[in-house]
Formats: sequence, C-alpha cells, structure tokens
Amino acid sequence: MELVLPRPDDFHLHLRDGAAMADVLAASARQFARAVVMPNLKPPVRTTAEALAYRDRILAALPKGSDFRPLMTLYLTESMTPDEIARAKDSGAVIGVKLYPAGATTNADAGVTDLARVRPVLEAMQRHEIPLLIHGEITDPTVDVFDREAVFVDGVLDPLRRDFPALRVVLEHVTTRHAVQYVQSAAQNLAATITPQHLLYNRNALFAGGLRPHYYCLPLLKLESDRRALVDAATGTDARFFLGTDSAPHARHAKEAACGCAGIYSAPAALELYAEVFETAGALDRLADFASRRGANFYGLPHNKGTVRLVQEAWKVPASCAFGGEKVVPLRAGEILAWRLDG
Ligand code: NCD
Ligand code: ZN
Repeated sequence: MELVLPRPDDFHLHLRDGAAMADVLAASARQFARAVVMPNLKPPVRTTAEALAYRDRILAALPKGSDFRPLMTLYLTESMTPDEIARAKDSGAVIGVKLYPAGATTNADAGVTDLARVRPVLEAMQRHEIPLLIHGEITDPTVDVFDREAVFVDGVLDPLRRDFPALRVVLEHVTTRHAVQYVQSAAQNLAATITPQHLLYNRNALFAGGLRPHYYCLPLLKLESDRRALVDAATGTDARFFLGTDSAPHARHAKEAACGCAGIYSAPAALELYAEVFETAGALDRLADFASRRGANFYGLPHNKGTVRLVQEAWKVPASCAFGGEKVVPLRAGEILAWRLDG
C-alpha cells in the first residue's frame, strides 16, 4: 500500500544553528517543503535583521537541489518595539512572533514575564496581521507541571484573546483535551499545532521500566485521555489543527544527564510517525489535510506543488544521528517503522 500526499509543511520546528543545524536540516528538508523555524537560539532571534541572517545560514546549509523554505519567527521579548513588527511584516520572510513565558522551556529565559509589558507589540501584531505563536504553559512553580497548559489556557490565553480579539494565534504543541476543547470553542483566528509524540504516547512513556529522557519534552506528555483527544482533533474535520513536529534536537549527553534537556528529535521519521497515528485511527484519508493543507490555509500561504509518497515498507530508525560533532538520538531510535517516506 502507498499513500501520496501533497508536499507537507512543518509548522513548528527547531533547527538550532551552526554545525548542528547543518546536520539536522536535511532530515526536515527531505520531509517537508517549508517549516516554521523557532527563534529560541542562544542568543534568541529578536529582530528581523537577525531572522534574515538566520534564514541565510539555513539556506546556505541546505543539501544541493533542495527547495526547502524556512519561514522565520521572532522571539518576543519585553524590549521589542512595535516598529520591529512593521519591519517583520515588510520583510515578507517573518511569518510570526513566538511567545515564550519566561523560563517555560529550553532557551526561554529571555521570554516574557508579564504580557502587560508587550501590549504595544501585540497591538502592532494585531494591526499588521502577524500571528502570535504561543508556548502555552504557565511558569508558576506552585502549579503542577502536568497542569501548566490548562492553567495557561484559562488564566493567560483566554484573557489575551479577549484583549486582542483580532490577533491571529497559534497555540503550539497542544497536549491536553482541555486545550483541544478550548481551540474548538474559540473563533477561527485561533489554531493549534500537534506533535507526533503527543499523538503517540501518554506520560507512562516517560517512566516505562525506568526514567526515559528521550520522551521528555515540554509541554510534557499527558494522560491517555488527553492523547485520545489530540488524535480525534488531528484526524477530525476542524481545520484549525495542523502539523507541527516541535522536533527539538539536543545532544545525547545533554538528554542522558542528571538534569536532562527538554526536546524530542522527530525529524528523521516525522511523516512516518504521523502516518502511523492516522492509520491506527482509521483516518489515513485525513492526513493530507492535516499535513499539507490546513496550516498553509491558516497562515494564508499557497499550497505546495508536488507530492511525497509514503510506502508500507519496514525500515529501522537509526540509533543516533550526527549533531555537530556529537550525536542526537531520534524518536523511535533503533526501532522498526511500518511506513517509509520514499525518496
Ligand atoms: C524545545 C527546544 O528544545 O528548543 N523543547 C521542547 O521540549 N519542546 C522548546 C519548546 O518548544 O518548548
Ligand atoms: Zn518547540
């Protein structure tokens, strides 16, 4: 059996920088025509000029002949000014601005402590129709880590959307039934991306027979009931749920450590993993919408020309991949997958 899809896009991707970027970029460029590239570098990508320079480094590192296109984002800080939004819009290369609550995840230290401090920027984004991409987790240390998305949705996202009703918002990597239901009940200018790991696993995966650092990402894997709600959303008819891998590579030693980094590297088998989810749900006919159409529609991008082909042919995910002189362990490392992306 085979499955032919219009060339898909990844609406949430971490490419890193330098030699590590050059090593992981090809995996995404092979799978996707375009990707929304996250700005949480060290230091973060804060200006349009920095985003354009990062874009040039990505384009220069692409394998010969690849027409992969990075869609750039800016990292929202409390010192960003509204004219930066005008510059971003004029550049045509910046697709959105990413909100990291300060300290919420990897390289989020420069993020926002209080949304009141970025009001003028949010107003400019609403006016210029630049979407706000949100890491939706509260950082209050008294809130249980498994509740941080739900508390963010009710306590931060909902008031934010009331204050900026025309702002286009993507709630990135949703992980809970609560967030799914919130998006479903909201107006059309709110959408959400869903990762392969949150569709495939619940939080038991983190502790299966011992501590499993390669299943650690933020937001964390959640309950089985949450996972099912995500599968229903991804395979359902609501056009606001679309593909964003959140592929987030970290060197092996940084994951397998006393204090391991958050992030799951899914790029080498991303489409295959989504195909597995859709097949199990009996919804392979919806994969093209989820992977190739809905995200582009939300962002007002043209659909890609050309197709990719998934074949039902067993293959083994590598145990590790090159990562700038180090190694990164991909999701399902060393395991056999039933679907394989041809070419
Ligand atoms: C991401 C990373 O490593 O950059 N990590 C993760 O667990 N998802 C950051 C993020 O998207 O939260
Ligand atoms: Zn991410």
